[in-house]
Amino acid sequence: MRRKPETDRVVLVTGAATGIGAAIAEAAITRGHRVLLTDIDADAVQETARRLGTRAAAFRLDVRDAASWAKAFDTAEATFGPVDVLVNNAGIIHTGHARDLSLQQHRDIVEVNLLGTMTGIHTALPRMTAQGRGHLITICSMTSFLALPGYATYGGTKHAIRAFHHAVALEERHGPLHFTILHPPSTRTKMLEQELADPTSVTAFSEKSTSPEHVARIVVDAITTKPVEIVFPPLAGRVQRIAGALPQIIRWLIPTVEAAGKRKRQQLIDSGKTHLFTVPGGPK
Ligand SMILES: NC(=O)c1ccc[n+]([C@@H]2O[C@H](COP(=O)([O-])OP(=O)(O)OC[C@H]3O[C@@H](n4cnc5c(N)ncnc54)[C@H](O)[C@@H]3O)[C@@H](O)[C@H]2O)c1
Repeated sequence: MRRKPETDRVVLVTGAATGIGAAIAEAAITRGHRVLLTDIDADAVQETARRLGTRAAAFRLDVRDAASWAKAFDTAEATFGPVDVLVNNAGIIHTGHARDLSLQQHRDIVEVNLLGTMTGIHTALPRMTAQGRGHLITICSMTSFLALPGYATYGGTKHAIRAFHHAVALEERHGPLHFTILHPPSTRTKMLEQELADPTSVTAFSEKSTSPEHVARIVVDAITTKPVEIVFPPLAGRVQRIAGALPQIIRWLIPTVEAAGKRKRQQLIDSGKTHLFTVPGGPK
């Protein structure tokens, strides 16, 4: 069988109307791949795909809906061919401390971030195994290592996604599939804007944020290099990963982290930078 070139993969991205997902779709197309952009927001994902040209197509996918997942894979196959790469990117946050969120808000986060990602992987496994190839890329978060105030359920879902992803990868290690999980730092998207609006999310501002385009370049490199796990920035990411395993260290560090986050968040607000999100393809 003729091998497909590494630069012409069929990629399905969730949450691709905006933010990291849209940037991944754009970077993948620039490298020669073809992308089915999916999102719960049908109009926005249509508009993003239209902007990216003929190697892009759009489909409305609510990641919580198993039947829509099957239709998304069928649509990708009918449009471009069988899906080679699934990028599970869609995610949400409701900001605030656990006691102040409604139970429904806690459930929303679990349903999208955790069950949505699990449903995607569950849909992809038999299809990709049958076709003899496939790469499952999970966009997770540094909160999969760190339990932080303001991120109780969000971080809980990210811890769980990481465990699920790696456990499935081990179960499938004798098969044809590849698994990569990636943990971006704070990234300038609408999600980070939402966090900027709420002082309970200050820890997100204690570190330097990055752009969705930077995260996207690393994701698209991973389509070729297939690393098991990526934390970044590489050094600070490793330190955070170790600290996360030791809650005593976090208890000791958290006042310093919160003070730095508070100061930097205030600097952003004072400089009028409440709009952090840059439209992909627009001025950076
Ligand atoms: N922005 C950050 O600082 C940051 C840091 C680490 C990890 N992440 C993760 O990266 C991923 C993308 O985040 P982002 O910052 O681009 O977010 P964003 O809010 O900018 O975009 C998320 C996209 O997901 C879509 N979406 C929401 N619910 C959906 C559903 N049920 N089904 C399908 N699509 C849905 C939204 O319509 C939106 O287009 C998320 O998993 C997030 O947890 C973000």
